[in-house]
Amino acid sequence: MSNYHIKHLEEYYQVYRKSVRNPESFWEEMAEEHFVWRRRWDNVLTWDFEKPEIKWFEGAKLNITENCLDRHLPTRGEKTAILFEPNDPKEAAQHITYRQLHEKVCRMANVFLEQGIKKGDRVCIYLPMIPELAVSLLACARIGAIHSVVFAGFSSNALATRINDSDCKMVITSDGSYRGGKTIDLKSIVDKALEDCPGVTSVLVVNRINGKVTMKEGRDHWLQPLMDDAYADCVAEVMDAEDPLFILYTSGSTGKPKGMVHTIAGYMVYTAYTFKNVFQYREGDIFWCTADIGWITGHSYIVYGPLANGATTVMFEGVPSHPDYGRFWQVVEKHKITQFYTAPTAIRALAKENLDYVEKYDLSSLKVLGSVGEPINEEAWHWYNNNVGKNMSPIVDTWWQTETGGIMITPIPYVTPTTPTYATLPFIGIQPALMDGEGKEIKGNQVSGRLCIKYPWPSVARTIWGDHQRFKDTYFSAFKDMYFTGDGALRDAVGYYRITGRVDDVIIVSGHNLGTAPIEDSINEHPAVAESAIVGFPHDVKGNALYGFVILKETGEGRDRDNLRREINQQITEHIGPIAKLDKIQFVPGLPKTRSGKIMRRILRKIASNDTSNLGDTSTLLNPEVVQQIMDEVL
Ligand code: PRX
Repeated sequence: MSNYHIKHLEEYYQVYRKSVRNPESFWEEMAEEHFVWRRRWDNVLTWDFEKPEIKWFEGAKLNITENCLDRHLPTRGEKTAILFEPNDPKEAAQHITYRQLHEKVCRMANVFLEQGIKKGDRVCIYLPMIPELAVSLLACARIGAIHSVVFAGFSSNALATRINDSDCKMVITSDGSYRGGKTIDLKSIVDKALEDCPGVTSVLVVNRINGKVTMKEGRDHWLQPLMDDAYADCVAEVMDAEDPLFILYTSGSTGKPKGMVHTIAGYMVYTAYTFKNVFQYREGDIFWCTADIGWITGHSYIVYGPLANGATTVMFEGVPSHPDYGRFWQVVEKHKITQFYTAPTAIRALAKENLDYVEKYDLSSLKVLGSVGEPINEEAWHWYNNNVGKNMSPIVDTWWQTETGGIMITPIPYVTPTTPTYATLPFIGIQPALMDGEGKEIKGNQVSGRLCIKYPWPSVARTIWGDHQRFKDTYFSAFKDMYFTGDGALRDAVGYYRITGRVDDVIIVSGHNLGTAPIEDSINEHPAVAESAIVGFPHDVKGNALYGFVILKETGEGRDRDNLRREINQQITEHIGPIAKLDKIQFVPGLPKTRSGKIMRRILRKIASNDTSNLGDTSTLLNPEVVQQIMDEVL
């Protein structure tokens, strides 16, 4: 089991060096020792970033579900694979063993076959966080169908666009979903979407809420009776290493969403290896990633990574605020969670609430805390570290993307010393580079630039579904022979990376590059501030000036606004310098966010620039009402 589990810093450096000196032999060794194959590869890697074309383990044959399920049956058949914690804390949790999961996957796979789904067909999955969601991904993989999960918070329009883009033949959904105190009528959203999706021939419906639904004769079927009638075993389709495993849509900076295509073998090898190391997973651990499987984090670190390691992975149906703000911590105590992986936006929301919500639970089972999806600001980092981790659980600030498939820059807990707001070091096999505006690599430390990756890693996306040219233009054209991430980063004196935000969020003020994240960090440290977002707006003299949208905490609401503005700017001056001072500060009730919790800066930029005649596509906003509220009070 060479180097599969890295345990100290010296070993990290040693393995890292080995992995970049000869990536092919490193990944070949990992693939050989830790997975089951039906046929060995002919080539470990062939690649060309010009085309771009990347192939890992070409010629190999396998089925990922044999790696995630079948091979565990002799030793872990009775072990919990999926631990389902329902929305309502009064409803019993479900422990689904590896044997039971295998059977469910096989039954569902047989149902898919009966519905006429074949290898290579696309299946859209639009489900809440219930076990059938994980089962349906694996059932697709069992028969070689390509899953396309659409987060069940997307509207019918967004769903229809995604179904049509990849020409899905079937949709798996539920009658409805529970979210906190609400129920959402998913089936009617699907019905509406399907009015515009002529290619969908069947819809399978999970009964989750006993809701009233309309079932279209010949097209719609309740899933459970079909599963009950299906065979409990299903021979795994033998797949090529480079066959697509799934499509997952991610929003582009412009235009329609991009259907990122991930292929089987490289994705499997990389997500399994990162899971093992980034979370220091050990047999017996209970791993909880709070993301939704509708996002890449859920694909890689709720489903494939954990199951490939034979781990117990938690699926949580609820929300952090229901029935109260202690829900996360209650679940940690109840299931003795050992690794907890969440997003900074959730941490910030919970940090606004009374500490009693955290303190009343026993969190001593925790060993590792994770953060993903956006830069974690210093205040949130410390809150997480002090109050959740009790200064005992390392925080892994993991930087990666839908496109990268797995974690790319991250500390390894108990191995890499952490620094707040730093994703720290490249993971094994990852070769980052910082590039300047002229396309040259910036070497050395204490530098910043555009973050690129120089060499392929096994789980890099292979294309955009139906639009290879866009794949090339977006990721492989900005810098020759590099994958361009779209993010900016700095490398500090010891070689640690800090992600400074999307490059399109960098604002040049009077010729100085200013990242939005550090300014926001600084503002957020003001005791009256809950959250903030900075955008640039045109300025006669400086080129751009800074506009801050600031949400106050309840304690700040009664304060004099001009005094607050002065204090915030004073704080920025102290933390960064007078150059980063804001020209305008508007106090707002909320920030426009996408359903995945990202601030939609594009809209804020338009408001700040007084250019609100066409705000563009706002269909993915979680809280569209906030846009009008901000505009009504614009400075
Ligand atoms: O800007 C980076 C930010 O999220 C982007 C990727 O978003 P998405 O494809 O939705 O995947 C999110 C989950 C992997 C990145 O380009 N991002 C992600 N993680 C971090 C981050 N920014 C800073 N620190 C992170 N840890």
